[in-house]
Amino acid sequence: MVKRVFLDMDPGIDDAAAIMMLSAFSELEIIGISTVSGNVEVEKTTANAMKIVEALELNVEVFKGASRPLAKRARHAYIVHGKDGLGDTNLELHNTKSLSNKYGPIAMIESAKENKDLWLLATGPLTNLAIATILEPDFPKMLKGLVVMGGAFNLTKYGVGNVTRFAEFNIWFDPEAAKIVSTSFDNATFIGLDVTANPKVWISKNEIDNLKETKRSSILRKIVKNYIKSYGSFVPHDPIAAYYLINPESFQIEDHCIKVKTGRFRGMTTVDNYSENCKKSRIATDVDADSFKNAFLKSMEF
Ligand code: RIB
Ligand code: CA
Repeated sequence: MVKRVFLDMDPGIDDAAAIMMLSAFSELEIIGISTVSGNVEVEKTTANAMKIVEALELNVEVFKGASRPLAKRARHAYIVHGKDGLGDTNLELHNTKSLSNKYGPIAMIESAKENKDLWLLATGPLTNLAIATILEPDFPKMLKGLVVMGGAFNLTKYGVGNVTRFAEFNIWFDPEAAKIVSTSFDNATFIGLDVTANPKVWISKNEIDNLKETKRSSILRKIVKNYIKSYGSFVPHDPIAAYYLINPESFQIEDHCIKVKTGRFRGMTTVDNYSENCKKSRIATDVDADSFKNAFLKSMEF
C-alpha cells in the first residue's frame, strides 16, 4: 500500500537530502512540497525545492509558504547551509513549472482533504503548520500522522540545543508556531536532536565519497561539500525524520506532553506530564543507526 506524504520544508541541505531519499522509495508518494522561511529566506527555500524536483524529474508541485515566523524576526542559518541554502553550490534552476500559485498552508489543507490517510513530514520551522491549523481547526484530524524534525527534549544526552544551549533551530526560529502545533495534534511524532545529534547516525565523508555516481549522489556530494569541510560529517537531521515514514519500527519512542518556551528561553522544549490539558506527542529517543544509514546511502545510489 503506497503511503502518501506531504512535505513542509526549508531546504536546506538536509531537507534536500530528505527529498532525494524519500523519492527513491516506491512505497511512498510525495503529494506536494510546501516551503517556509527557515534555513534561508522562503524565496530561496522554494527555489531549492524546485531545483531538486527538476533535477530528479519528480512529478511534484511546490507551494511557497510563510515568509517569516508568526511573531519573531527571521534569523536564517546561512553559516550552516550557505547563502543559497544548498551549500553555496548555486545549483541551476531551468524551469519553474513545479511552482504552484497556491499558498503553502492552503495547499496542506487541500491535500489533506483530497488524500485520505495523508502523512505530513515537517522538517523546517512550523509556521505553515500553525497557519493551517488556525485557518482550519479540523486540519490536525485530517492527517493520518504528523512527523516533525524538531526539538531537543533532554531525553538523551544529545537532546540539547544547536542554536542556543537549549533550543533546536526549527523550534527556535518560530516558537509560537511550535507551541500551537505541539498542543493541536493527537498524532504527532517529534524526531529531535536527542536522536539526530547522536554521532552514530552521522554520515562520513568517506561514505559519501564511496557512493556510486548517480544523480542523487552527485547532488549530495555537491551540497554537503562545504558543510563537511566545516563540520567533518553530514548530520542528516531531516533524512532521519523522513526515515520514520519508511521504517517507524526502527525508532524508540516515548509519549510525553511538550512545553515550548517563547520568552527568555526561546525555543526550549521540555517534556511535561503534569499539566491538565496536555496533549501527548510521541518523542523519539533512539533509532537503529545501521538500518537508517544503509537505507539513506542506498537511496542515494538509486
Ligand atoms: O536543527 C536542525 C534542523 O534545522 C534541520 O531541519 C535543518 O534543516 C534546520 O532546518
Ligand atoms: Ca530543515
